[in-house]
Amino acid sequence: MSCPAVTAYATAPFRPRPIVSIGAGGIVHDAHLPAYRKAGFTVAGIYDLDRDKAGALARQFGIPRVYASLAEAAAEAPAEAVFDIAVPAAALAEIVAALPEGRAVLLQKPLGESREEAERLVALCHQKHLRAAVNFQLRHAPNMLAARALLAGGALGDLHAMEARVNVYMPWHLWSFLLPHPRVEILYHSIHYLDLFRSFLGEPRSVYAKTTRHPAAAEMSPTRSAIILDYGDDVFAVITASHGNRSGRAQQESFIRWEGTRGMMVAQMGVNLNYPAGEPDTLAYCTLDNGAPSWRTVALAGNWFPDAFIGSMASVMRWADDSSQPAPTAVEDACRTMALVEAAYASSAAGGRHV
Ligand SMILES: NC(=O)c1ccc[n+]([C@@H]2O[C@H](COP(=O)([O-])OP(=O)(O)OC[C@H]3O[C@@H](n4cnc5c(N)ncnc54)[C@H](O)[C@@H]3O)[C@@H](O)[C@H]2O)c1
Repeated sequence: MSCPAVTAYATAPFRPRPIVSIGAGGIVHDAHLPAYRKAGFTVAGIYDLDRDKAGALARQFGIPRVYASLAEAAAEAPAEAVFDIAVPAAALAEIVAALPEGRAVLLQKPLGESREEAERLVALCHQKHLRAAVNFQLRHAPNMLAARALLAGGALGDLHAMEARVNVYMPWHLWSFLLPHPRVEILYHSIHYLDLFRSFLGEPRSVYAKTTRHPAAAEMSPTRSAIILDYGDDVFAVITASHGNRSGRAQQESFIRWEGTRGMMVAQMGVNLNYPAGEPDTLAYCTLDNGAPSWRTVALAGNWFPDAFIGSMASVMRWADDSSQPAPTAVEDACRTMALVEAAYASSAAGGRHV
């Protein structure tokens, strides 16, 4: 398979722009604002339907302005600001519609609740001349950037297998909007892996999937999934994600594994192991060139949470300055990840071949 371009993944903007946050929920508290503080980005203002939540985050992170309404945020945001939208997907269209034309925007995943909604959102972004990207920040995690560089440098030879394995306890109750939602696991979690696989392997020919409920979350839509991406007969590409494992750390796992003709690489995604506090991310690789496999650990400059969130915002800031450098997860690209989500749900509903 072809190696991905490492340079597409900005870790810093040409020049930082102010940020206006729309949404003051868990992910803004846990990752967006800590990342921006670490990067030295200025958050100029914040708005949430729940004004108390916006006020609390403003106090905690020293944000000077709490907007009273979406219209006020849209009208009074600094001219160069990036709108950083982190709300449930169902609210995206209404918010994008209210933004001023021609602005830079970062939207939390998923891009709507279906492929159809994603396509409508892309059309809306075009109509408003927005430079809009989706916050698929896993691509920017330090271990994923290092993995991309190793592959591009040829350390593993030709890539022929990629596997995501997540078997953890996920505290779904943190997202009250998900509890009644008809689509949970693939749309809100495995979507990160579908997007990551596309970024390493390109577009698959087709998708096989089954998504099922877990008894510990029986009131919810399915929270565990097995997904096979079909890249032909010579590539193994599999995602399994199951979120009800309360057996303790020893039997929980959260990693991506790549296999090439000359070596293997494994990246732990620590945040899933104790969400959202997490454990550290890791990356180790082995080469098979000289007889016995020899494993090395790669020193990393941070973790998925919060460091990857610097990169996704930096890539939008760069795009805002230079139209020839669209963010790698621009809405048009994100729409293709949404197509995989839709295909996975369709495959699960259609069922397998009868025996
Ligand atoms: N790694 C990741 O990329 C990651 C992780 C967690 C959540 N998320 C995404 O971030 C989004 C928000 O998740 P969360 O964990 O913060 O959820 P949350 O429930 O903690 O917060 C959502 C916030 O959005 C606000 N809100 C809802 N509708 C709004 C509207 N129309 N205008 C303004 N505010 C509105 C709510 O009042 C709430 O404060 C979700 O789409 C989720 O998929 C992404």
